Amino acid sequence: MDTKAFAERRLRLIEAMGSGVAVIPTAPERIRNRDTHHPYRFDSYFYYLAGFPEPDAALVLVAGDAPQSILFCREKDSEREVWDGFRYGPDAAREAFGFDAAHPIGMLEEKLAELAADRPVLFHSIGYDPASDALVVAALNRVRAKERSGIAAPARIEDVRALIDEMRVVKDERELEAMRRAARISARAHRRAMLRAAPARHEYELEAELLHEFRAAGAASPAYPSIVASGANACVLHYVANDGVLRDGDLVLIDAACEIDGYAADITRCFPVSGRFSAAQRDVYALVLAAQAAAIGCVAPGRNWDEPHQAALRVIVRGLIDLHLIEGSVDAAIESGAYRRFYMHRTGHWLGLDVHDAGAYKRAGAWRTLAPGMTLTVEPGCYIRPGEGVPAALENVGVRIEDDVLVTADGCEVLTADAVKRIDDIEAAMAGR
Ligand code: GLY
Ligand code: MN
Ligand code: MN
Repeated sequence: MDTKAFAERRLRLIEAMGSGVAVIPTAPERIRNRDTHHPYRFDSYFYYLAGFPEPDAALVLVAGDAPQSILFCREKDSEREVWDGFRYGPDAAREAFGFDAAHPIGMLEEKLAELAADRPVLFHSIGYDPASDALVVAALNRVRAKERSGIAAPARIEDVRALIDEMRVVKDERELEAMRRAARISARAHRRAMLRAAPARHEYELEAELLHEFRAAGAASPAYPSIVASGANACVLHYVANDGVLRDGDLVLIDAACEIDGYAADITRCFPVSGRFSAAQRDVYALVLAAQAAAIGCVAPGRNWDEPHQAALRVIVRGLIDLHLIEGSVDAAIESGAYRRFYMHRTGHWLGLDVHDAGAYKRAGAWRTLAPGMTLTVEPGCYIRPGEGVPAALENVGVRIEDDVLVTADGCEVLTADAVKRIDDIEAAMAGR
């Protein structure tokens, strides 16, 4: 395990804290039903700093003249390990992950009280998990109980996540490597699902093809619930039932990607079940693809977060007017919001350890400026539900095209370029089924 990157992040956070002590717990395990748990996924903030994958763990960072990073984790337990598998235990974890010290998780409250004594600030993820909120309050009260012996409790509690968000929004090489792998595997999965599409198959059969590719490549899990939406289902933005039947003449929208070493890809592609776009589907698809190209053209250092969205929006609105779905000028339709009936989401989000990743979108009220190392999605769409003024040929056509984009020194790089999206390429690939 290369632990250097994690140790460097901890030192950067300690510097950003200036003084005080921070406690960053990992995610709790969650019961699914009775004695069965949901598959475990660590907390992204914790993992970003610790690189430690086990549940029941927390990181404590001490800022100031003698900076320290201390892990709290499960103790070795040979009997539990027979049932649940290997666990590091504090000594081996300290050694393997490069912490200054490590203790059993059961000592967290007591140690935190010692470390917080006479420090001005306690940094914590307030409101993230009731159990860790309660633990922090208990530790604070332990310090306060010693006030008569001259010990002061931290006067301020600050949310540590704001500091980590600013670090997470710019990715380092190690993170980009994981994101590139997640992107490559996810692109392969889209291709596999596309080539398995045929009338009378079910959406879940295509979902199974995606999962096959993810797991066969070693991905721990999808980065978010896969959307496989055919026909009218493509107009349901968070469709996850995936139980419909594919029909000749329908489009299929697949929004799915895997997670590698905690890092997400996020890809949406659309293709016709028959392998050939109808004229109306082609119009809408080409419109969304043009909107995406316009947006990607605005991803570069120095551009602001909103520019790709505004570029995509103008193309979509122009197209909606040309398709006679809305009336008036582009500016008037943007001003009135008339386009929202067909395009109701924004064009992207930060991408990283979380699919909707950490990081502010505005600073002091202004859209933030893109910088090298930032990673985002570009995902315009157009969703045409039946209704007044909608011609039959366009009814239930739902298209979104989503790629993952890295801001580089002189522009951007599309990390998900392996996933085909030109109409000709899709039709050619499907013709070879
Ligand atoms: N798959 C979630 C999203 O596209 O934002
Ligand atoms: Mn997305
Ligand atoms: Mn998506």
